[in-house]
Amino acid sequence: MQQFEGRTAVVIGAGSGGIGTGIAEACARAAMNVVVADIDTDGAARVAEALNAAGGSAIAVKVDATDRESLAALCGRSLDAFGSVDLVSNNVGVVLSAPLTEATEAQWQWVLELNVMSVVRSVDTFLPALRAAGGDTHIAFTSSMAGLMRPDLPGMPLGLYAATKHALIGYGESLRYELEAEGIGVTVLCPGPVATNLIVTSARHRPDRFGGGYDVDDEMPPGQDPHDVGDVLLRAIKGERFLALTHPELGRFVERRYRSFAADFAFASEGGPDGS
Ligand SMILES: NC(=O)c1ccc[n+]([C@@H]2O[C@H](COP(=O)([O-])OP(=O)(O)OC[C@H]3O[C@@H](n4cnc5c(N)ncnc54)[C@H](O)[C@@H]3O)[C@@H](O)[C@H]2O)c1
Repeated sequence: MQQFEGRTAVVIGAGSGGIGTGIAEACARAAMNVVVADIDTDGAARVAEALNAAGGSAIAVKVDATDRESLAALCGRSLDAFGSVDLVSNNVGVVLSAPLTEATEAQWQWVLELNVMSVVRSVDTFLPALRAAGGDTHIAFTSSMAGLMRPDLPGMPLGLYAATKHALIGYGESLRYELEAEGIGVTVLCPGPVATNLIVTSARHRPDRFGGGYDVDDEMPPGQDPHDVGDVLLRAIKGERFLALTHPELGRFVERRYRSFAADFAFASEGGPDGS
């Protein structure tokens, strides 16, 4: 996507002052109309109000990204307000610290639902609108550095999170390939540590069918200012990159991972036909 000015961005998961809010702000700075969408109605309203007070053109819409009808209503509201949708950015996600060996079926379902299926659903819902916009449109969603490497945080087992964030990389890579010919780009944002309230919002908005909301007082590790992340994403979109990376210095860990895969290939190629 090359042209931002005067076009419309729908930013899902943008009401909490986190990464989605940073993206909404960057879109407004790029003179886009912005739909600030979140399950947190008051938070979304506050963000849209701030964007409008700074001279932007924004509306707030409540959405539940686990519900196709709610996403369809969001798409309808966006089209009614601004006439087209040109960029969709989904930032909904949850983090859960639990050893894989102890994870329950309900924990798996919750994390898969929010981290993977909410993205798939938002793509399915907005694709017709993006196609109707007639080219130079874009899909963005947020994975993590934990989607590219094993997250090694002492005392914080993040296997469920990493597995779902890896799934988004595979999904995004194939989606980009499928949509290339239609002029619809796909970029996956992979942030390193960003200073947000993700642990708290994850617990607060856990759907009833997975046990409902609960209180936590754990804090996220220190990280980048979320207000700086939006420009990283827009630069990657304009540069037609697949990955948008907030912490390029972490690339060495991804290289190390692929070197270990390469060693496995080398080992396999040295084996005899009988596996010896
Ligand atoms: N903060 C980090 O260090 C970090 C690092 C890598 C990746 N990420 C990813 O970035 C994304 C944004 O996280 P964040 O750190 O900005 O935290 P955040 O809590 O600010 O963002 C998550 C947003 O999703 C919203 N949300 C939750 N359930 C929803 C639902 N059912 N429907 C609609 N909205 C819903 C929340 O209200 C919140 O606004 C997540 O996917 C997260 O996994 C975060």
